[in-house]
Amino acid sequence: MKITIVAGARPNFIKIAPLIRAIKRIPEAGIQFRLVHTGQHYDEKLSRIFFEELEIPHPDINLAVGSGSQAEQTARIMVAFEKDLITNPTNMVIVVGDVNSTMACAIVAKKLRVIVVHIEAGIRSFDFTMPEEVNRVVTDALADYFFTTSSFANENLLKTGVDQSRIFFVGNIMIDTLVWARNKVKRPVILDLHALNRGDYYVVTLHRPSNVDDITKMKKVFSAIEEGIGNSRAIFPVHPRTAKNLESADWKSEKIILTEPLSYFEFIYLIENAAGVVTDSGGVQEETTVLHVPCITLRANTERPETITEGTNELIGDDLPNLIAALRRIQSGATKKGKVPALWDGRTADRIIKILSDLDPISR
Ligand code: UD1
Ligand code: UDP
Repeated sequence: MKITIVAGARPNFIKIAPLIRAIKRIPEAGIQFRLVHTGQHYDEKLSRIFFEELEIPHPDINLAVGSGSQAEQTARIMVAFEKDLITNPTNMVIVVGDVNSTMACAIVAKKLRVIVVHIEAGIRSFDFTMPEEVNRVVTDALADYFFTTSSFANENLLKTGVDQSRIFFVGNIMIDTLVWARNKVKRPVILDLHALNRGDYYVVTLHRPSNVDDITKMKKVFSAIEEGIGNSRAIFPVHPRTAKNLESADWKSEKIILTEPLSYFEFIYLIENAAGVVTDSGGVQEETTVLHVPCITLRANTERPETITEGTNELIGDDLPNLIAALRRIQSGATKKGKVPALWDGRTADRIIKILSDLDPISR
């Protein structure tokens, strides 16, 4: 069976790495793959470094679509991917996550009558102000097979009428990478520069438009973090979207230390040894749950509710006094340890490959 795997943005790379490793590890599955990088993310620190560290093979093609408005970027991916898919026929297109590349390539594949498989299907924030929610809903409206991370995701799909036989609860493929990388993590230089050690510091990552596109709001969040962490420091690896907005802001902090995006091995070391994490990232909510590190999420909702009900995550929304209080709770040690959700065990990719290789050849 020939499959085309699509990846375009940082979290996608972390999700496809274990899939490709499993394809190679299980030759009896008889899967040949072609890897398409859409070029949605292109900075060295958002793309190449992940291919290198996670041992992802060089993509067969980079569509080099770059940045743009939601419609521009989606349209460019569709035009370029359609050409590529016509030139390189395949039995199946696999898309992961919820970025623009995910939705754009699912639409193209479906219109070319190629089977669409969605990994991390079914999760929902029910918040259509997020571009990702549109991407999730459209992708899942078109997909033929659905690999899910939680029973919540299964229920969401069933409610939209997806047949049970097409939904496979396989666990969280992002955690496969975390498990694989556990003994490869690297202490980032920024910790040495500031003489910071385990438990001495917090980590901040913010890149959602709702948090970073309004500079006045972002500054208020930073002031609350400064107040909440007391005499500690926070390390903030800045996403390029956030960096662009910060450039125009007149803002400086002794306590919040800005740095470039970190490599995966460095970032996992950073969060694993942090007192706590303040984030709006989807993947980071999941990784902190598995690492049992307290996580404060600056969003009003999450498509990953198991990180709250089972894990270490807490939703704060826009409530800044509550952010300060949550950071103080971490300092006083009043945090939940949480447990790792079912099947977030590092073996998700193997389950997926097994299921794909067992699919009825007619339906695949
Ligand atoms: C995208 C995803 C988001 C995901 C995030 C992961 C969508 C709608 N959003 O958001 O779900 O959480 O990636 O990091 O797909 N830029 C660079 N260099 C790059 C890439 C982007 O400088 O390599 C800058 C550009 O100014 C660009 C901005 O970042 O306009 C936003 O990039 P984009 O890919 O549109 O969205 P993200 O905010 O990265
Ligand atoms: N990450 C990283 N370096 C960083 C920040 C994040 O390697 O400086 C990793 C993080 O461990 C997680 C993924 O990037 O695996 C999350 O990506 P992001 O927050 O960009 O996207 P989201 O998950 O919100 O879609």
